Amino acid sequence: MKENINILFLGDLVGRPGRQSVARFLEHSGNKYDFIIANVENASHGFGLTEKNYHELDAMGIDAMTSGNHIWDKKEIFNFIYNADKLLRPLNYPEGTPGIGSKIFELSEGVSIGVINIQGTVFMSPIVPPWEMLRAEIQRIQYKTPIILIDIHAEATAEKVSCGYIADRLSVSGIIGTHTHIQTADERILEHGAAYITDAGFCGAYNSVIGMEIDDSVKRLTTCLPVKFEVSPNDEVQINGIELNINVKTGYALNIKRINEVFSLSRGN
Ligand SMILES: [Fe+2]
Ligand SMILES: [Fe+2]
Repeated sequence: MKENINILFLGDLVGRPGRQSVARFLEHSGNKYDFIIANVENASHGFGLTEKNYHELDAMGIDAMTSGNHIWDKKEIFNFIYNADKLLRPLNYPEGTPGIGSKIFELSEGVSIGVINIQGTVFMSPIVPPWEMLRAEIQRIQYKTPIILIDIHAEATAEKVSCGYIADRLSVSGIIGTHTHIQTADERILEHGAAYITDAGFCGAYNSVIGMEIDDSVKRLTTCLPVKFEVSPNDEVQINGIELNINVKTGYALNIKRINEVFSLSRGN
């Protein structure tokens, strides 16, 4: 059995540029990682996830997919979420919501990784506060494996930082923020050995407003009128994510490193 494993977490994939940039990135570096997680709530045209795109991302080698508030935007999700065994939606939706909020993924050589997806409560649509469920879920998974990663999909920085401390004190391996699409520079190992970052960022069009057309966003902002957002078709793309190195026996994080790469899809570099 390996002593340490390398995990890649990719921030929200936004539309086709998000999927294409990740496909290119994984073609070149995918085999560096023992386990790959991506947040896919915006993977299909910027809003939600289609079944076709779920299979496309699965075929790229993504092992686990987390999500957030936008996962419900494509209505077909309600049909295929039951069969999408790599996909999580936030744990703290009311009972009876389709899909699951956490899962233990089995790697080869007897290593398994628990992934929990939760959604924040501050400046977000109303949702059940996740904290009690989170504690119970961590304890349930710890019977099986010390390696536990949490995607906290939330808007407010202080809520994510607080979540980091809550989960670090419960001995998880990492807490990774998503949803704002802008990568933060506060990656660190917390007091009890969990890796933490407030936001992993996003994968998609580089010249964009968090992945969407610049002109749409500017028009909406300056006219105060509703404007439909389209994914920016820009050829320059960015990959935002983090790499984690985790000790298999203890579940503690040894290292967290930010990934922030920009390249052109057409130039192939
Ligand atoms: Fe997002
Ligand atoms: Fe979101």
